[in-house]
Amino acid sequence: MNNNYYLKALDQKNEALNVPVWLLRQAGRYLPEYMEIRSKFPNFFEMIKTPKICKELTLQPLRRFPLDAAITFTDILTIPEAMGINIEFVKGQGPIFADSISSNPKLTLNESNYLEKLDYVFEATQLIKSEIDVPLIGFSGSPWTLFVYLFYGRSPRDYEIIKSYISNEPENTHAILKALTNAIKEYISAQIKSGADCIQIFDSWGGILSGQYNEFSLNYTNEIRASLSKDIPMILYAKGTSINGLLSDTKIDCFNLDCDENIDDYINMPLTIQGNFDPKNFHKEDSELINLADSIFEKYHKKQNYIFNVGSGITPDIDPDKVSLFLERLRLFNSK
Ligand code: CP3
Repeated sequence: MNNNYYLKALDQKNEALNVPVWLLRQAGRYLPEYMEIRSKFPNFFEMIKTPKICKELTLQPLRRFPLDAAITFTDILTIPEAMGINIEFVKGQGPIFADSISSNPKLTLNESNYLEKLDYVFEATQLIKSEIDVPLIGFSGSPWTLFVYLFYGRSPRDYEIIKSYISNEPENTHAILKALTNAIKEYISAQIKSGADCIQIFDSWGGILSGQYNEFSLNYTNEIRASLSKDIPMILYAKGTSINGLLSDTKIDCFNLDCDENIDDYINMPLTIQGNFDPKNFHKEDSELINLADSIFEKYHKKQNYIFNVGSGITPDIDPDKVSLFLERLRLFNSK
């Protein structure tokens, strides 16, 4: 691997005077080359189950932008799908599960051969790894966030429903979280064996839990961290939850901040920080974007534990040329 800045920064030891970059959802519907491939598949899972296509979709943003990491093009919902739940992505609605805990409290997950069904992810990981020059990020949803999708069978709306379920049915909830934790441990360990250099855990619905975050989410994430070798860095994205108070409770190497936090509250802590940049900024005028890139570079290029990233995924309304303009500007300084 020629470009190692991302892993150096995860180790809090990026001594180069630059700003390593990757973008949450760097591949996807804002790229016309993605839409072209997507239009050939009636179903998202059919598309990602073809390792050559996964590889191509992973490489697309790397061809366009100066990025310091790749992320395997799959989804956090691969585990529930491999456990027997049919999932469709309906335009304007997001994921729709054929079955859910809220409509079917006896819902059972098929835990027997899910890992074989996920072979396509591991095959894609190997293919990607053989072609890239930057580190490869493997990933999974957190047990809690996968539970939220299994519970609602879609993206959640009324959070009170799941809150009352977990307080009325703590044993069932923990049993499912435990089963998901075991599956995630095996899933990420197979990704690492196939070539992933680090692992990001997406706790996109952690914000629902507030005071119960440790009990229903962080404890399980910590268990996953403990199962991984110390040499493999782990990143946690916990949307809607301030991670400020969590530092002493975790062994996570890097926090991926959402858009609501303040980097300066974290940057001097003994871990790596990425994220926080609001992708809506990519709608700004070119001159404003250039000023933003300059001020970010100025502020963070001497930090050894900083990675530039967005605080929420890139959305289809973003113009990739704006992303290019911004990242090329950050890169211009990187090479000085
Ligand atoms: O480059 C990359 O981003 C890698 C691939 C990737 C996808 N999803 C592809 C995808 C990654 C890392 C994800 C993570 C993911 N998926 C998260 C965590 C990050 C976050 O945004 O909080 C979540 C919550 C999901 C669940 C999910 N998958 C939703 C809600 C949707 C619906 C539509 C959307 O884009 O929000 C998906 C489908 C999905 N996953 C698409 C892509 C490119 C769009 C599907 C399509 O083309 O129809």
